[in-house]
This record gives sequence, C-alpha cells and structure tokens, in this order.
Amino acid sequence: MRVKELRQVYGEEQIQARVAEMAAEINALYNGEDLVVVCVLKGAFMFFGDLTRRLQGPQVEIDFVRLTSYGRSAASSGTVSFVKDLELSVAGRHVLVVEDIVDTGYSMEFLLRQFAAREAKSLRLAVLVDKQERREVPVHADFTGFALSGGFIVGYGLDYAERYRELPAIFEIIPED
Ligand code: PRP
Repeated sequence: MRVKELRQVYGEEQIQARVAEMAAEINALYNGEDLVVVCVLKGAFMFFGDLTRRLQGPQVEIDFVRLTSYGRSAASSGTVSFVKDLELSVAGRHVLVVEDIVDTGYSMEFLLRQFAAREAKSLRLAVLVDKQERREVPVHADFTGFALSGGFIVGYGLDYAERYRELPAIFEIIPED
C-alpha cells in the first residue's frame, strides 16, 4: 500500500479528553484497590502512558507484554503467542489490560485466556479503539475510547510498517489508487 495522505480521525485534544474520561471510570470502579495494569506493546504505549498517569494509586503496578500473530498482513490470524510475557504474577490480582485497538479479537482472546488461566482475581480490558464490526472471535471491552467501523488507522501508538507511532493524533491512511 502506498500512502497518499493521512486524514485525521481523532484529534489530540479529543483523545486526551476521552482518555481522561476513561481514567475517571476506571478509578471509580477500582476505587483504590490493588491493580496490575498491563500494556500490550507496541501499539498501546502512548495510550498506556496517558491513561496510567491519571490512575489513582496507591496500589497500581504496571507491566508489559508483546504478542505476535502468524500469517498476518493488516489483520491478525488465529495463532497468537507471546514475544514478551509479564514479569509480575497476576494470580489473585485485579488485572486491567490496556490495548490500543481490538480488531478480529484474536490477540485479546489469547491474552485474556492466558491471564484467566493464571487465576487473576478479576480481568478487564480497556481499549482505545474498538472495531467491533471486524470481530471474528468474541472479545468484550470493559472500557472503550472510540468505536470505529472501518479504515486503516495510524498514530498515537498505531503503526503502518512501524511508521507513524509517534503522532499525537489518530489518522486514517488514504492509499494511492
Ligand atoms: C495490533 C494491535 C492489537 C492487534 C489487534 O497489534 O495493537 O494488538 O493488532 O488485532 P486483532 O484484534 O485482530 O488481534 P500488532 O500485532 O500490529 O502489533 P503492534 O501493537 O506492535 O503494532
């Protein structure tokens, strides 16, 4: 795909305002309980930073995972595995997974199943952009930033061939014909 232009979908202020609302919802729900917050690298890194800085402690611990799926192009396949696993144990802990985008659902179906098997006390998912119409396996987001139906989006952590992750807003790629 050759990129013709980037068209803004969610602006920087709009994203920051929505992330603040999500953080308020999350703070209200956990109400100061112990919480492990998990960033799904790489895409979620910016959302994760903005969200976690708004979480109320005192008992928030953070950790990172990185997943890979085989045979993929712009979308996941059904075979997902860890490139990097957690360093913390989630057994008996409240766990909040922070993900940039849920598309087919394969990545989160895998991760949430793994954490459930490790006997997390509770398991919830915060996703910035939920592409629910593209779901191939059921995954429910407990906290959703934006619902989007189509388009290849980049920026605010999201990439196309590793580019555009540093942009502070989210854009749709308009390809050349
Ligand atoms: C993207 C995104 C999600 C996943 C969503 O990650 O960050 O993790 O795909 O797709 P799915 O719902 O169809 O599984 P990607 O594998 O591109 O890695 P990245 O976050 O490092 O860019």
